[in-house]
Amino acid sequence: MSSKSRKKVLLMGKSGSGKTSMRAIIFKSQLAADTRRLGATIDVENSQIKFLGGLRLDLWDCGGQDCRSSHTERGRNSRLTLCGRIAFMDSHLTAQSSTVFRSVHSLIYIFDAESPELLTSDTVYFLKCLRALRDQNPPSSSSSSSAANNGGASANGNGNGSSSASNDEGPTVFVLLHKMDLVPVDQQGSKLAEFENEVTKKAREGGYKGGMQFYGTSIWNETLYKAWSVVMANLMPSLSSLRTHLDHFLDLSGASEIVLFERTTFLVISSVTRTTPSASGEEGDEVASEAKDWDERRFERISTMVKAFKLGCSKIRSPFSSLSVSTRHYTAVLDALSPETYILVVAKGHIQTAALELNIRLARPHFA
Ligand code: GTP
Repeated sequence: MSSKSRKKVLLMGKSGSGKTSMRAIIFKSQLAADTRRLGATIDVENSQIKFLGGLRLDLWDCGGQDCRSSHTERGRNSRLTLCGRIAFMDSHLTAQSSTVFRSVHSLIYIFDAESPELLTSDTVYFLKCLRALRDQNPPSSSSSSSAANNGGASANGNGNGSSSASNDEGPTVFVLLHKMDLVPVDQQGSKLAEFENEVTKKAREGGYKGGMQFYGTSIWNETLYKAWSVVMANLMPSLSSLRTHLDHFLDLSGASEIVLFERTTFLVISSVTRTTPSASGEEGDEVASEAKDWDERRFERISTMVKAFKLGCSKIRSPFSSLSVSTRHYTAVLDALSPETYILVVAKGHIQTAALELNIRLARPHFA
């Protein structure tokens, strides 16, 4: 397999920050409540995940156990027997540094939002990881100057980040401030913004010039899907041509919105929304202002709901295949598009779902 289709992604953060929980929910379809029973990751757990278009995700879940870890507090006695005084985090940064950090496509670093050491020792570990990442993946001279010209970080505080760090400029870094459900809702925005500013400042002072994208996440809501959808989209080389195909489909079908999901994880791969009038004759302004009012997190909410529904179906041994919803205002069909994807087509008004199903059937050869 070529190195281009195989992408190494590191999942790091201190022990108990929630790395394995995320992995279990996204890639193994576990329920959030079941993550309470997960054991600690011993050293590194490596999983190979087949993704869209022959892409293979090489996910390294790097156990964060250190000597001060909170395993006893969390009552994970079995873990203590296994881990003893091993400091996995230290070992990733020293003896195993070249094995862990070399040829990395992306680093996803998880911070526990409720950690009392968030901006002290937790950040220090993160900065050490950035340094190891830079040392093991030195950028080429041309790309490092372009990163500097970009002003480095493109963090945007609320999860809609567009990275200034393309992978030619070194590994892409995603920073997740996790367990945000434990932070009062009215403080979540300011906590993330303050954290982002502080960590970015420290990273710059430490000489890190690459980009970082910050997201607030929780396993208890769709924010997890939002962040991971961006991570996945970042790994896919052919995203722009896929979008062109979706745009074309949107035009031909007269739909209001089309969303493409990865089949196993139900992460959003791409989406297109109508902002100009369709042939059916709505006013352009009306279409644009309607789209503006839609819930910004609707795709991730759908990911979460469909994943839960699929799980329910598998429990009663009735495999999920497709879903149609028709109301007075909208008609929507979610169906398989290719062996690796599901497509959601949403059209305005009450129309026959069979019409949308036919459109999907006709589109399949173009996405095969
Ligand atoms: P190591 O394997 O030791 O490195 O830990 P880890 O980072 O993999 O942590 P793990 O996924 O095992 O999660 C530790 C605990 O945090 C579990 O009890 C999870 O249920 C809990 N947890 C994970 N994510 C969240 C979250 O978003 N919110 C809350 N409240 N708890 C979470």
